[in-house]
Amino acid sequence: MKKILHVSCSPRGEAAESHKLAQKVIGFLRQKEPATMVVNRVIGDGSLSHIDKDYAISQGSSADVFQEGSMAQSEELIREVEAADFIVIGTPMHNFTVPSVLKAWIDHVVRARRTFSMTPAGKVGMLRDRPVFIAIASGGRFSGERVHQPDFLTPYLKTILGMIGLHDLTFFSVEGTGAPPEAVAESRGKADRALRMHFSAASAMTASVLNERAI
Ligand SMILES: Cc1cc2nc3c(=O)[nH]c(=O)nc-3n(C[C@H](O)[C@H](O)[C@H](O)COP(=O)(O)O)c2cc1C
Repeated sequence: MKKILHVSCSPRGEAAESHKLAQKVIGFLRQKEPATMVVNRVIGDGSLSHIDKDYAISQGSSADVFQEGSMAQSEELIREVEAADFIVIGTPMHNFTVPSVLKAWIDHVVRARRTFSMTPAGKVGMLRDRPVFIAIASGGRFSGERVHQPDFLTPYLKTILGMIGLHDLTFFSVEGTGAPPEAVAESRGKADRALRMHFSAASAMTASVLNERAI
């Protein structure tokens, strides 16, 4: 059975715009494979601690000396990533970037000698690549025209997830949630169209590969 890891990062929980967008992504993924299992990792409620002293020490040494505390938590989170066929991250933009809870998750998952190795040529990812969907909600706009704020969220996720081997990233967003209701509805409509386009293109590609195999 295929597995989707859903990382939910908004403090607003199920009412969050990013959560709703992530649910739509999951819906499209499950349309193709209804039996797909979803593993929910809720971190938006602040339940994930920051990394502890022992973990920080081990990252600066040449061995994983400590197996408890953050190291055990890190192992659990990494195994969830490794077991997933798809990863869906639902996240708000906070202060131009990822919320601190998502940064805490990243600190646990991006681990020396476990998810990346250090070589003379630089850091090399150790995870098998798999599709990662990032569903973002932001109060203002950060892409397209008439943008009045920087975006440190999407380039950061591309760089840090790429560093551990996750390169197959697709971003969807509902931007401008702080705008009047009509504008928010338009933004949601735009995200829905992007989702439909992405998943219908993906299905068409799969069908043509299957056809080629059948010939
Ligand atoms: C602490 C904090 C920082 C925020 N920073 C930004 C920001 O830098 N840019 C932006 O467009 N919106 C910002 N917002 C607004 C949220 O991105 C917006 O309300 C979004 O829709 C929340 O998504 P959610 O419903 O998934 O939590 C911020 C909100 C909070 C609470």
